[in-house]
Amino acid sequence: MSEQETRGAERSGLFITLEGGDGSGKSTQAALLEGWLTEQGRTVVRTREPGGTPAGVEIREIVLHHRGDISPRAEALLYAADRAHHIEALVRPALARGEVVLQDRYLDSSVAYQGAGRVLDPVQIRDLSLWAAEGLLPDLTILLDLDEAAARARLDTSRTRYDRLEAEKSDFHARVRAAYLDLAAAEPDRFLVVDAARSVDEIAAGIVAGLRQRLGARL
Ligand code: TYD
Repeated sequence: MSEQETRGAERSGLFITLEGGDGSGKSTQAALLEGWLTEQGRTVVRTREPGGTPAGVEIREIVLHHRGDISPRAEALLYAADRAHHIEALVRPALARGEVVLQDRYLDSSVAYQGAGRVLDPVQIRDLSLWAAEGLLPDLTILLDLDEAAARARLDTSRTRYDRLEAEKSDFHARVRAAYLDLAAAEPDRFLVVDAARSVDEIAAGIVAGLRQRLGARL
């Protein structure tokens, strides 16, 4: 075994999730963070929900692009089904290998979008997600916080068409943002809240500083 492999084997898996409203810049920051973690010698598995597995890609297509109506509870179950399969098939095996799973969206998205956005019971939605994922919680959740108007302006410049969730009205997205901030306040040890109104470089620096502070030796 090379020195690199030996160190890799000694390191424990880390589960880091990125959350935030549509247009908050998660994808850009995920790419930068993946680069930084790789520079630290970590093996990174970058993934997302919905759609992190082949079955999940099919679920994603329904939940984001189905043309007709989907009832709120059916929508919640579709996200939960994607999650159940993704965690078992991809995330847990990577964590067991000692890798870093860097994941765009996880159960907090369901609580914010289906719980607050669709006005279902947030506690039930969280319980459903935890059942689906057999209780797996992230080591750290990075919340990119951006007000609704600024997020919409960013989306308008980057999208030619909106998916089912993005197309929701501004009060939906305002509820999503408020729910995320409530979640972060309720679990301050798990959440790192980052002001996403700043420049890409400033946000990335804030994330790295937060990661060092929160995860320290585990990195
Ligand atoms: P995606 O294109 O991945 O959006 P983004 O780039 O903003 O992450 O689409 C995912 C959409 O699905 C997004 O609008 C949030 C929504 N969503 C839920 O409503 N519930 C969930 O549990 C998850 C994971 C995502």
